[in-house]
Amino acid sequence: MRDYIRLRGGKPLVGEIALRGAKNTVPKTMVAALLSDEPVIIRDVPKIEDVEIIARLIARMGGQVEEIRPGTLQITAKNIRALDRGDLEDITGRSRIPILLCGPLLHRFGRALVPKLGGCNIGPRPVDFHVKALRELGATYDEERGGGLFTAKRLRGGTVILEYPSVGATEQVILSAVLSDGVTELHNAAVEPEIMDLIALLQKMGAIISVDMDRRIIIEGVKKLGGAVHSSMPDRIEAASWACAAIGTNGRIFVRGAEQLPITTFLNKFRQIGGGFDITRDGITFYRAQPKLLPITIETDVHPGFMTDWQQPFTVALTQADGRSVVHETVYESRFGYIEELNKMGATISLYEEAPANIKSRFGKRNYRQSAIIKGPTKLRGREITVPDLRAGFSYVVATLIAAGESTVKNFSVLQRGYEHLVAKLQSLEVEIVEVKT
Ligand code: EPU
Repeated sequence: MRDYIRLRGGKPLVGEIALRGAKNTVPKTMVAALLSDEPVIIRDVPKIEDVEIIARLIARMGGQVEEIRPGTLQITAKNIRALDRGDLEDITGRSRIPILLCGPLLHRFGRALVPKLGGCNIGPRPVDFHVKALRELGATYDEERGGGLFTAKRLRGGTVILEYPSVGATEQVILSAVLSDGVTELHNAAVEPEIMDLIALLQKMGAIISVDMDRRIIIEGVKKLGGAVHSSMPDRIEAASWACAAIGTNGRIFVRGAEQLPITTFLNKFRQIGGGFDITRDGITFYRAQPKLLPITIETDVHPGFMTDWQQPFTVALTQADGRSVVHETVYESRFGYIEELNKMGATISLYEEAPANIKSRFGKRNYRQSAIIKGPTKLRGREITVPDLRAGFSYVVATLIAAGESTVKNFSVLQRGYEHLVAKLQSLEVEIVEVKT
């Protein structure tokens, strides 16, 4: 199906939008529900593709996923069976979450078949840390065409040292170690708020997990986990994306549900470029605090650094800042694929393989375009663009909202993977927009 939106930009975005549970947490809490025989209730579940994929896999295993109220799922995984190859065919290459099924499936069946993973095309995205960690906990791994098979009679505690604080590998170790025999020490763990949210649910289910300040997570294996009720943290990537849309269009957006603590690093940078924000218990209002936006140098990093997923909409906002900004990407090798189109819209952004002076590059001398220099302010013009991946896609939408005139955004459905009801949200911000499906 070909799908696109047509919208008219160049007007300040004014109004309110509401956040739901985070795309990068909710599907993982659904996976955690497979660790128990008892029902796990998850609230604030957005209607996005990763949720739908995990719900489908749980149903195929014989588990029950019921929407007991709008946005509230009850997952009961009492009588489930292992996945076989046929169950995975239509999932292959569509999401990264299925790799996290390993822990629950190994505990319950001694084998875990995983499909070839999907997700955005933003670099090689290997799973070597996952494989190494699961081997450390006693699993064996056979790579197969279209995926892989992990097996383990019993998982046992161990010491896992991650080469890099990977979010997914940290979640893998936690989800695998909670029911393992003995204690697992995870070193150099990721400590993103999304991981703390997963730990919070697991604690409610009966897990014993402690997090030290030095990126060490200690998991004491328990015999059994029970049911729980959990409201997932609001989506902090979406919160920052709307903030960039507000400052870029010189508008004012109240993001209901946005929380200060998970985005303090973003708020600091937002303020430094001339953004304003008012924080209340119900959410945060974002706006431009001064007529002229200021340039900045930023570097993406793991938490508590500036998230790689904030990079794209922030870069778009920087096209409106007065001067030369530098954005250096350190988490993914290839996360500037969207720049060419922005330049065609009128931006002046150059990409470089070198890191800025005084910054040690994670990717060394490999040929990755890891730094962007943005010269602003530039007038953006509407045009026809095609969404390449989720975050780049949303940043295109932000660019088309800043741009004068009409734009067509093709392949718009990719955005449904991470942004619920996007067209309705844009309409509520008084954007002239039509959605076409052919
Ligand atoms: N890495 C490896 N080997 C591994 C795992 C990771 O080399 O086995 C590398 C990656 O290639 C990357 C770095 O480690 O260079 C960080 O990857 P990480 O494992 O932290 O990322 P992820 O768990 O695959 C999640 C989010 C991403 C987000 C990153 C970083 C989900 C489903 N995805 O990915 O979100 O950018 O953490 O915060 O949680 C998005 O939402 O659009 C998105 C891409």
